[in-house]
Amino acid sequence: MELFETIEKRFSNRKFLDEQIKDSDLEKILKAGMQAPVGRGKYDDMHITVIQNKDLLDEISGLADRSVFYKAPTLVIISAKDDGYGLDKENSACVATNMLLAATALGLGSIYLNLVIGLIKENNTILDKLHLPEGFVPIVGVGLGYASGSHIVEHSIDVNYI
Ligand SMILES: Cc1cc2nc3c(=O)[nH]c(=O)nc-3n(C[C@H](O)[C@H](O)[C@H](O)COP(=O)(O)O)c2cc1C
Repeated sequence: MELFETIEKRFSNRKFLDEQIKDSDLEKILKAGMQAPVGRGKYDDMHITVIQNKDLLDEISGLADRSVFYKAPTLVIISAKDDGYGLDKENSACVATNMLLAATALGLGSIYLNLVIGLIKENNTILDKLHLPEGFVPIVGVGLGYASGSHIVEHSIDVNYI
């Protein structure tokens, strides 16, 4: 898919089909995330966790009485080490955005997730199950799967020209 078409077609998918994504697509999405810009080039301060284990996904779903990752069959957690420059959130957002666009280009549904991260961080049992390397903190979630439809809205942000 052409880049600008991909950008236009990306949307936050909140209804996923049960079917799991292909490993080959997952690898492309992860690779796209790794190609994102990261402040000071500190890629070693970033970590990606892929959760496809149904039991763990159900456990995470059970943390809230509302849907926090919309039963996406693949939940990616982007974690970062505090680099002392306060760039961990920005870096994780850059990695996540590349993943969302790659997923869109592959015809998959995707969503940027923040709420689920707060819930995971408050639950040590689930946090332990992520097996994060020492010093890493979950920052952003990305839900991936097949979308059951599309929902494209054109957004706008005010611009001033000087
Ligand atoms: C920093 C950030 C946090 C977000 N957190 C959530 C979330 O926890 N749950 C959710 O359903 N959507 C979340 N979203 C998705 C936004 O609601 C969505 O991108 C926005 O409404 C625009 O819609 P679109 O992505 O379909 O274009 C988040 C997006 C960003 C950038």
